[in-house]
Amino acid sequence: MTDFLNYDYDSPPELNQDEYLVNGKLRKWSGPFQTVTTPINPSSEPGADQILGHYPLLDSNAALEVLAAAEKAYALGQGEWPTMHPLERSACVRQFLGKMRHQRDQIIELLMWEIGKSYKDAANEFDRTVIYVEKTIEFYQRKVKRLTTLRTSEGVKSQIHFSPRGITLCMGPYNYPLNETFTVLIPALITGNVVIFKPPRLGVLLHQPLLQALAESFPPGVVNTIYGEGQKVISPLMTSGKIDVLAFIGSSRVADIIRNQHPLPHRLYTVLGLEAKNPGIVCNNCNIDNAVHECLLGSLSFNGQRCTALKIIFVQNKIADIFVKKFAAAVDDLVMGAPWDPEVNITPLPESSKIDFLNALVEDAENLGAKQVNLRGGLINGTRYFPTVLYPVSLKSRVANEEQFGPVVPIVPFEDFAEVADYVAKSPYGQQASIFTSSEKQLKQAMQLLGNQISRLNINSQCQRGPDELPFTGRKDSAQGVLSVREALRAFSTPLVLAGKSSVSTNKLMNSNFRSEQTSLIRIWKKLKKSK
Ligand code: G3H
Repeated sequence: MTDFLNYDYDSPPELNQDEYLVNGKLRKWSGPFQTVTTPINPSSEPGADQILGHYPLLDSNAALEVLAAAEKAYALGQGEWPTMHPLERSACVRQFLGKMRHQRDQIIELLMWEIGKSYKDAANEFDRTVIYVEKTIEFYQRKVKRLTTLRTSEGVKSQIHFSPRGITLCMGPYNYPLNETFTVLIPALITGNVVIFKPPRLGVLLHQPLLQALAESFPPGVVNTIYGEGQKVISPLMTSGKIDVLAFIGSSRVADIIRNQHPLPHRLYTVLGLEAKNPGIVCNNCNIDNAVHECLLGSLSFNGQRCTALKIIFVQNKIADIFVKKFAAAVDDLVMGAPWDPEVNITPLPESSKIDFLNALVEDAENLGAKQVNLRGGLINGTRYFPTVLYPVSLKSRVANEEQFGPVVPIVPFEDFAEVADYVAKSPYGQQASIFTSSEKQLKQAMQLLGNQISRLNINSQCQRGPDELPFTGRKDSAQGVLSVREALRAFSTPLVLAGKSSVSTNKLMNSNFRSEQTSLIRIWKKLKKSK
């Protein structure tokens, strides 16, 4: 196990990936390659970018070859994988999980170097993903073992099965490159779909240690990878019309570009996780210290680069001064450093143009009357940007409306809850909100005014996705489809109803089919238990 506290941060790992996964094999690629640099400069001074390695920049021919492998594996639903017994498929996923666990240290290390995630958050991302996969397997097996029962209604005898949707393109975001990719990839696989997956532009190399495990755990063509420019590798897939499901987590702009290339959009099923502008609403009668603590976590964990981050804070007039003072002081106490520094909170930003973007937001807000209220705000050290807290922010400013996805926290004073409700209703986004209050009446009011605009109201707590059993979704431009361990299994499958008007011969057929399903279930279950 790597000792990350005594870590040799002067020498980044070097990983030159010259292969991609297609048809069950790691196929060599002779170039061109994308050079991967790290946002981390150990000397803390601006300097030449440190190179981590490279990955293949595939072309359209390679993308089409990957598509052909996926098509062959799915074989219009007759392939080995989509027709395999669900318990056997879940055994393959379990085998993969066993191999994935061995790659923990290397993946955590790459998460730190590639996207600047702190050691604690990187370890949490890996462990949480492992738990998600475990829960998905358990839940799916339980579901399969309950075997859909026969029912009769209005003279029709029926049974409901679930079948895969087809060829699935999975694309995750850079901020949770492993977790968010796997929260769609694993449910898609276990339910019998075949997958083509493209890691985000930042956060590619950390997937390399899993390629061999994917190749060994699934039949050929069931999981394939592509890398490179969207126009070269995504466009050929989409314009072919052969992609059945798009599972995409990122911006709505890119989601639309990808989706609109499909010639038969009604055939394309989409699961989308998009932008958000979650408000924290700090009310007069809240516990101010708790509100400060949760707003700090909510707005600045992983530098504010979470889709669920609190991206605007509303504070009621009576407590505004004291809240702003305490919040600004708490922000100034944050530690900025390298991902492996033990107490670090603020780490290097991986997007090269991010600091300019954040500065432009701050300037615009200041032009509209906001002041920077913390002392260290906006301090820049190479790719590190110390969080800026702005108050009082005008709702006309860019930072009140655009998703900053970074360490700038706008605070807006309010008097009447209706002002906040109006903001939420007019926002193009509708993921979550956090309310800080001790009043039942205020909570009721929030439920009433925000309940039909967002998908989760957090009480005296920051916004977040977990626990993963809870439905995770959003309204308007924030999401399409619901994810959670249970919902994701539904999202990637479609009901197959076996039904017939009740009669002696139909009932006999359905009963005997049900019995034979039970017999094979028991046989496969015993076989799997023995082989454990
Ligand atoms: O970036 C979006 C993530 O799904 C948020 O997850 O709330 O657990 O950080 P989190």
